[in-house]
Amino acid sequence: MDLQQRVNSIPWYHSIDLGNGLVTPGRKSLELMKHEQGVFFDPVRLDGATVLDIGAWAGAHSFEAKRRGARRVMATDQYVWIHPEWRGREAFDLARNAIGSDVEAAEIDALDIKPDTIGRWDVVLFAGVLYHLRSPLDGLHAAASVANDCLIVESEAATKFLQSPEPLLAYHPSGSLRSDATNFFTPNVAFVVEALRECGFALFDTNVDGRRLTVHAWRNTTRRVLGNASAVQTRTTFSVWRRALARLKHEVRSR
Ligand SMILES: C[S@@+](CC[C@H](N)C(=O)[O-])C[C@H]1O[C@@H](n2cnc3c(N)ncnc32)[C@H](O)[C@@H]1O
Repeated sequence: MDLQQRVNSIPWYHSIDLGNGLVTPGRKSLELMKHEQGVFFDPVRLDGATVLDIGAWAGAHSFEAKRRGARRVMATDQYVWIHPEWRGREAFDLARNAIGSDVEAAEIDALDIKPDTIGRWDVVLFAGVLYHLRSPLDGLHAAASVANDCLIVESEAATKFLQSPEPLLAYHPSGSLRSDATNFFTPNVAFVVEALRECGFALFDTNVDGRRLTVHAWRNTTRRVLGNASAVQTRTTFSVWRRALARLKHEVRSR
């Protein structure tokens, strides 16, 4: 089988440019992948960084982190990597070999991520995984435990109370979210921020785009890129100060 035939034999979630005109036919278009990667990585100084990608699937974001100058990148996953139909590990290996990338791989459940199992990383990406977990708080704490400088959390959002200052989770029983029985909970922005504040993060940049949210949680500002707002397609970006103000207003209103 040639490369094109091998690509065609696997279901793809990510569109990845393998070179020589060959792009994997992902459910996410190349344009969407680029947009997401801008949101995730433009605000982060990646040169020389170590990066962990939790729930990496075919590894597009891992490859992009490496392309942006990361020193060491590890892709981790489990559900789709061992799933007989999704064949995610095959997709990752095929793309990695075609690109000639040295991104590392580890098969591990997101809830088993901790310094003892996977080590500590400068930057951790936790994209599209949170709502698949039965214990989202444990998932956030696991990802936080291995992030030295920055944790990037991306998730489907609880749209009904997205901007509430109260930290809230919505439960989606029996496949009621997008007919996908592996979707359980969606958070609002405050939930992600407050859960990560408990884990010692000091500063938060948040970005809401339709039904998705992205939070950059910082323990320090070593890798935070400032003055790059136009590179991040933010509809809503606010700091802890604005969140504190919102909380204050809410408290005043409810008195
Ligand atoms: C919606 S995809 C997101 C893929 C990629 N991070 C992205 O943003 O394009 C969800 C990913 O999370 C992984 N995942 C779901 N539950 C997991 C778990 N308990 N442990 C590890 N990975 C998990 C799936 O295997 C899948 O690769």
